[in-house]
Amino acid sequence: MKTFFIAGNWKMNTTLSEAKELAEFIVKTFPPIPENIKVILCPPFINIPLVSRIVKQSFQPNIFVGAQNCHFENKGAFTGEVSAPMLIPYDCRYVIIGHSERRKYFNEDNSLINKKLIAVHNNNLIPIFCIGETLEERQQNKTLEILKSQIEEGLEKLSNEQIEKTLIAYEPVWAIGTGISATTEQIFEAHNFIKDLINDNYKIDKEKIFILYGGSVDDKNSYEILKLENVNGALIGGASLKKDVFKHIYQNAIELS
Ligand code: PGA
Repeated sequence: MKTFFIAGNWKMNTTLSEAKELAEFIVKTFPPIPENIKVILCPPFINIPLVSRIVKQSFQPNIFVGAQNCHFENKGAFTGEVSAPMLIPYDCRYVIIGHSERRKYFNEDNSLINKKLIAVHNNNLIPIFCIGETLEERQQNKTLEILKSQIEEGLEKLSNEQIEKTLIAYEPVWAIGTGISATTEQIFEAHNFIKDLINDNYKIDKEKIFILYGGSVDDKNSYEILKLENVNGALIGGASLKKDVFKHIYQNAIELS
């Protein structure tokens, strides 16, 4: 039985009422979630309490809430930031770390991302650690080199146990929000490379390394992507805001699990 993580990254979308509508649709209309499929909803911070309440009241044990970011310190003078311990009372279980939009617009580099990954683990949350190359890097044949440095610098000082708990999201930057997903060959190659690297470096069994693909996943391409042997889920942006499309992707995961 294959394990799938179907994660919706709502980004800076959804007002309170939109978040309510979307979360209620998901908990009410998704067929009971099989144990090997985890649905993770990542709304903006401000909507986490509401979405968490809706999820909790639904008694769907395999729907979870995640955040899109957090600070690396637990508390302090960091105006506008939110820390990992602040997420815990809202049953927030996952945190997206190192998303390319944060790397690009908020200058997050591998060493900052490393500190955030450590903070997330220290608070017993599960990071969804995003990596991926830009178009320029791919055109220059640097994809694997970039993935290697993002992984090695991002995972520095983490224990093997923490690395094993980390979910990886391979998200080529050029595929995010563009409507142009990576091909199944490109995804397969990148995921294989990531698994081999983590297995070689940290001696983690390949079956215990879960890699999600992200970048223009939708109802049309999700079946072929999720079908790939080394893909254990998807991190979905735009399509996670479209109720029926997100549900369709989930149903594909059920079919393939
Ligand atoms: P997208 O975004 O599905 O809209 O391409 C994916 C992501 O940014 O995680």
